[in-house]
Amino acid sequence: MNVAAPTTSQPEVDWDALHAEAVRMTTLAYAPYSGFPVGVAGLVDDGRVVSGCNVENAGYGVTLCAECGMVSELHKTGGGLLVAVACVDKNGTPLMACGRCRQLLWENGTPETLVQTPEGVRTLREVLPQAFGRETLDAVSPVRP
Ligand code: THU
Repeated sequence: MNVAAPTTSQPEVDWDALHAEAVRMTTLAYAPYSGFPVGVAGLVDDGRVVSGCNVENAGYGVTLCAECGMVSELHKTGGGLLVAVACVDKNGTPLMACGRCRQLLWENGTPETLVQTPEGVRTLREVLPQAFGRETLDAVSPVRP
């Protein structure tokens, strides 16, 4: 299923391709503690696709969610803003990003970034209402080092 991005200046979202890349990433996950591989893929506003998988650690709290790897790839390959994101479990079922990762997506997308969720495609604004972001900081401390 292809769903057009909200504005013509953005690349069209190929959800099938994003989903396939997310599923591929689950096969690269390192999840020996939870047994819960996660894969994620995101379309960038310049048309690139970035992706990631979860990487766990014996110190459980050190675990990196799949979104962490994807955001790292986003920055290391040129930056930009996420237009659409698909995150899945090992069965290819859409997963809602955890709270922390919704915040990661917020910083690296826009309020209109599309996310595939168990309840269908939603915007980041819908899945992270009243988000804390750069604007929150600017409202109080406009000048930062
Ligand atoms: N996980 C992710 O990779 N992304 C999320 O948004 C939710 C949770 C991972 C972390 C951990 O390796 C496993 O899923 C079980 O919590």
